[in-house]
Amino acid sequence: MRMYDLIAKKRDNFALNDKEIAFMIDGYVAGSIADYQMAAMLMAIYLNGMSDKELAILTDYMSRSGDCIDLSGIEGVKVDKHSTGGVGDKTTLVIAPIVAACGGKVAKMSGRGLGHTGGTVDKMEAIPHMRTALKEQEFFDIVNKHGLSVIGQTGNLAPADKKLYALRDVTATVSSIPLIAASIMSKKLAAGSDCILLDVKKGSGAFMKTIDDAIELSEKMVSIGAAAGKRTVALITDMDIPLGNAIGNSLEIIEVVDTLKGKGPEDLTEVCLTLAQNMLYLSGKGSLEECKKMAEKSLRDGSAFDKLVAMVDAQGGDTGVILNTEKFVKAPYLHEVIAQQEGYIEKMDTEKCGIVSVILGAGRETKESVIDFSAGIIMRKKVGNYVKVGDVLAVFYTSKKGVLADAESLYKEALTIGTHKPAKEPLIFARVE
Ligand code: URA
Repeated sequence: MRMYDLIAKKRDNFALNDKEIAFMIDGYVAGSIADYQMAAMLMAIYLNGMSDKELAILTDYMSRSGDCIDLSGIEGVKVDKHSTGGVGDKTTLVIAPIVAACGGKVAKMSGRGLGHTGGTVDKMEAIPHMRTALKEQEFFDIVNKHGLSVIGQTGNLAPADKKLYALRDVTATVSSIPLIAASIMSKKLAAGSDCILLDVKKGSGAFMKTIDDAIELSEKMVSIGAAAGKRTVALITDMDIPLGNAIGNSLEIIEVVDTLKGKGPEDLTEVCLTLAQNMLYLSGKGSLEECKKMAEKSLRDGSAFDKLVAMVDAQGGDTGVILNTEKFVKAPYLHEVIAQQEGYIEKMDTEKCGIVSVILGAGRETKESVIDFSAGIIMRKKVGNYVKVGDVLAVFYTSKKGVLADAESLYKEALTIGTHKPAKEPLIFARVE
């Protein structure tokens, strides 16, 4: 078999078969297929797409290109969740405790921040002494005992994806829906859970800018999950506006605690309850209606909050800051961003809000950057709010006084203030099963 012939076949819009896809992925990971040939193949896939069958085969080989986590040491149905990434997205740390409080099992590997989007592992590390790298047995023991553990990605998971992603990044092929679907699902399949909930973000802060693209991506990922024998559901949720009021690591942990105590922002609470409801449904805990009631009860009776405390304790974190969030180290500089114009906030450029938080120190500007856990933004006004001149739009937290002027001007650029009250958009646009 020759890679040249496979490229020509895909260029002419024919489907690749099982043996051809195996040859291509195995050869690329082993180094016998060169980057320039794989780059041509990626462009052919970008232009011509892939059938559901080809995509399922491609994802399967990608997922088996490295370590596959065997979660059979954990009793019960294990449910995973993946978010396609957003700003202020701290849902994992609210949802995992809710699901565990309702008897579900969450053995989850999460990522770090990427560009303008935050990452769960970075947020967890804002809790002093919290360990996010655990040996497999300890990870299993914590899930068996408490129902949840969230750690950083371990092992050599889906190396084919790592190599392909780096190549896509420099060949203008990242934004191919089939390639995004295979990339995400290859890692989810290798991570070993029995069922998968996908939170596909749509809007100015997300990869998917339109509902049509978000639905297409969701359908492809659900179909890959089904072909692999995993119950998979996708929810398309809003990322036109940052989620919740906090952006930045310890600020977001404080918001997680508030939400688990039933005092969180409405948007975050609604999205988390719906995601948790669907994870419980996938775990076979009942009908969607029953799972919704269970999830709500776990916030009311404090059992979800107790699960967060148990996980933090089991992973060596300082539960003192969770029990009293006043104990989190505070940023030395606080700066209020004041409105100079009256009107409704009509729009927020979510990506720009995320970039502001990075400028303040909450994310990485380079791979080597050290995160300032105390840095970030508390948004006091969001889309739909009416603001008067002199109102506080947001409060910035930082250790770098010198960045405040640039951060303020970019934040103001991110807000569109006008005379029209914007229509309230749904937080959850669609459910794909
Ligand atoms: N996230 C991934 O893991 N892969 C993509 O291709 C895009 C987003």
